[in-house]
Amino acid sequence: MSGSGGLEHTEQFLQAEGLYSEYKIFIGQFEALDRIEASARSMLVIQTFCYELETRQEVMKAVTRLYTASQTDFQRALFCSWIALVSARHFSLSLNNQRLLFFGGLLQDIGKYVVDNSVARFISNLNGNKIPIYGQHDLEDAHPLLSSSFIEHQFPDEDKLKDLVLHHHARADGTGYPNFVVESQLGLDDQILIVANEINDRLDHLGGYADFYLTLPYLKLAGMMYFSKVQQSMHRMLTGLLAPPDGAEQSRVCSAGALAASSSHALRNKERSAILKQCVDSLLAFSSELIPYDFDIVVRGIRSNIARLVFLMNESGLSQESAFRPEDDLSEQERSELDEMFGALPECLYKFKYYLDYLKGAKQFEVCDSGLKQASDAVRQCLFAFDRAASF
Ligand SMILES: [Fe+2]
Repeated sequence: MSGSGGLEHTEQFLQAEGLYSEYKIFIGQFEALDRIEASARSMLVIQTFCYELETRQEVMKAVTRLYTASQTDFQRALFCSWIALVSARHFSLSLNNQRLLFFGGLLQDIGKYVVDNSVARFISNLNGNKIPIYGQHDLEDAHPLLSSSFIEHQFPDEDKLKDLVLHHHARADGTGYPNFVVESQLGLDDQILIVANEINDRLDHLGGYADFYLTLPYLKLAGMMYFSKVQQSMHRMLTGLLAPPDGAEQSRVCSAGALAASSSHALRNKERSAILKQCVDSLLAFSSELIPYDFDIVVRGIRSNIARLVFLMNESGLSQESAFRPEDDLSEQERSELDEMFGALPECLYKFKYYLDYLKGAKQFEVCDSGLKQASDAVRQCLFAFDRAASF
């Protein structure tokens, strides 16, 4: 027996067929994923990629460690690699780009299990963590860098794969990992893998892969603010595939947006719009007070998100009270679309709540207290109006 815990015995770590079976089982157990796969027809390609990985023993050992150490991370790897591959095929990317995205999704988290934690803490101290946001996967380490380093050794000629893995928790506003990497520095492939991870974050929060349909309203809203090409394209693809087939199904999978919006159903659209406009105006005023502190990563993040929110409001017309026709004139579909959009807003607003709470706690900013309080109150009022689960 070697010091590697027996993993050198080929029968003791995953082989191509075993890994391929994991994909089939994972996708097959969730109706929503199964429906997407029935259209994407990616299983044959996945099988080919699994056989390529089988020729790389160290990589298969690392995948096996992930498989045995954390079911959550292994399922994330299966989901992200698969949905990134499906998206790549939807975008008609080359077979090699499909391959890199698939490998990137599968191997993105192996850095958590290939070295000891003290190394991760050391790197984290040097580079900083991803800023945790409500409802999203929080990072306690610098595993993208560790995973990327592993890739560099195992795939020395695949610079793009190394970069994909390094950036898989980057954020459009620069507050992800690595810090200060923003949307303009991230290519289409990077964005596909990041969005795959963000969808997985949301599914974690919602309760699992069976509720995939519930992510669609926010995907639509977020697609107006950042990574637009990827999110809008994925939203179109998924909406077509996950659309409930009949009325009964519709009620079973009613969207998170519609669910949250039902809490404010008593509010008419004009009232919802007025509350939202007040919130956006307060955030915009506060943003200008933050200009002197734009060197700070969180300040830059909140200012960037405020600008995107204003753009979203202008694009969608949600905060233009005067644009709304009398409620009775709206068709069922228009009413439903408005409910979805308003219902998806809380996830966006919780991000602002997190940023504002951070600024309150950060003593290094001489931020105008009244501006901060006004912005915080406006966000809270919006959350009360749009999210019946809000409690603070
Ligand atoms: Fe990760």
